[in-house]
Amino acid sequence: MPSRKTVISASSGLWMKSLKHLVVFSSLCCLISGYSERERVHDLMSRYPLIDGHNDLALQLRILHNNQLSQIDLYNVSKVATDITRLQAGHVQAQMFAVYVLCGAQEKDAVRLTLEQIDVVRRMCTEYQDFELVTSAQELRNSEMKHKIACLISIEGGHSIDSSLPALRMFYQLGVRSMTLTHTCNTPWAESSSKIYNIYQRQNNSLTHFGKAVVEEMNRLGMIVDLSHTSWDTAWAALKHSKAPVIFSHSSSFSICSHGRNVPDWLLHDLKKKQGLIMVNLHSKFISCSDEANISRVADHFDHIKNVIGAESIGIGGDFEGAVSFPQGLEDVSKYPALIQELLQRNWTENELADVLRRNFLRVFEEVERVRDRLSLNRPSEVQISVKEVQNPCRLVLRPPDPRRPSDMSPSSRAQNGPKGLLILVIPLMLSSLLMIE
Ligand SMILES: *[C@@H]1O[C@H](CO)[C@@H](O)[C@H](O)[C@H]1NC(C)=O
Ligand SMILES: *[C@@H]1O[C@H](CO)[C@@H](O)[C@H](O)[C@H]1NC(C)=O
Ligand SMILES: *[C@@H]1O[C@H](CO)[C@@H](O)[C@H](O)[C@H]1NC(C)=O
Ligand SMILES: [Zn+2]
Repeated sequence: MPSRKTVISASSGLWMKSLKHLVVFSSLCCLISGYSERERVHDLMSRYPLIDGHNDLALQLRILHNNQLSQIDLYNVSKVATDITRLQAGHVQAQMFAVYVLCGAQEKDAVRLTLEQIDVVRRMCTEYQDFELVTSAQELRNSEMKHKIACLISIEGGHSIDSSLPALRMFYQLGVRSMTLTHTCNTPWAESSSKIYNIYQRQNNSLTHFGKAVVEEMNRLGMIVDLSHTSWDTAWAALKHSKAPVIFSHSSSFSICSHGRNVPDWLLHDLKKKQGLIMVNLHSKFISCSDEANISRVADHFDHIKNVIGAESIGIGGDFEGAVSFPQGLEDVSKYPALIQELLQRNWTENELADVLRRNFLRVFEEVERVRDRLSLNRPSEVQISVKEVQNPCRLVLRPPDPRRPSDMSPSSRAQNGPKGLLILVIPLMLSSLLMIE
């Protein structure tokens, strides 16, 4: 029989040995679990790759390269946070690319500039094999099977249509599938959340008669109504008026950061009733109301919105290239997995995250298309904005003369009596002589 002492020392040796095993084992565990956490995110995002609501690469292509795609390699673009290599690393499968022109172009050449931005997105998405321009939910789904990054085109700011429904329809023909009603300027028919421009201020008229016609025509065409950048009143009015779900493509929670670009809880409830979507903006200013933010604070926005309206109303709209400061760890489009990892650690389920990553957006897009199909018997809208709401020196109005208005019949007095700066051309004789020609 061994003495008591040897038993003790033997057992303590055994204990030490198992402690050693335990340490090795647990650190292995840590390694494995740390590894598998990242693996789990990449696995999830491979199955449900991201559809992101907002990116301003096209604006940077104009500012930095004058839209000369031949001068750059989109796999590796310096000075920006977005290129194909990083989109692929970030599991971004679809991107709404904004075609944005500055508010300064309103009443000037906004329509031309918007056409040029559409051109650069279309070029980018057709000249590079890894991109594919899509215009329907089905094409978006197909592009995933083909391992392409789908490009959706979105107009950022209603000033781009120059108060014209025919212009809106032609933008649709060019592939535009979404439009924010305003940017930082009011339009003659909708109100911005920003007060930096003091144009088109109206009392108690956040969505005018023409504004409602814009929403209706977007519903009829199957274009997603985007309320980011509008005032809350305008967002509410458009939400009520729209027959289809609406989105905030890049806005965050006002309860977490009280910035006017963010969405208050009362409006979130209305959004949910309409089965709409808020795609959380990652810009530090909207996340922490300062120039510095972290992933944890971003996740607070997701947690809060989930508590208020549920994960089925949430998406992601990064706003890269449209803003300067982004949270630590989310500096470019390759970093989305870090956000998903944080949400997994906060006990978001894979099902909820699959919704946030892509299924919610697809649901909204498909519903917008269903509403379009239901309205397919409606004729294109001929609603026009009233001349006095849009009078500006760049607007040429052709209209038949009104015999009840002597000024219309007397060429010399037209300029003085018409609205200021407005040119009314009376050309009945020319027109009728044209019609005589066979
Ligand atoms: C991207 O381009 C820069 C120069 O603009 C170069 O230094 C860098 O190595 C390139 N990266 C890749 C991944 O090709
Ligand atoms: C604003 O307009 C609505 C109807 O469009 C009206 O009910 C309301 O009284 C108006 N408010 C003000 C302050 O004029
Ligand atoms: C993240 O930022 C918030 C402020 O926005 C701060 O209170 C918090 O401590 C930060 N968290 C980490 C993990 O750094
Ligand atoms: Zn924006």
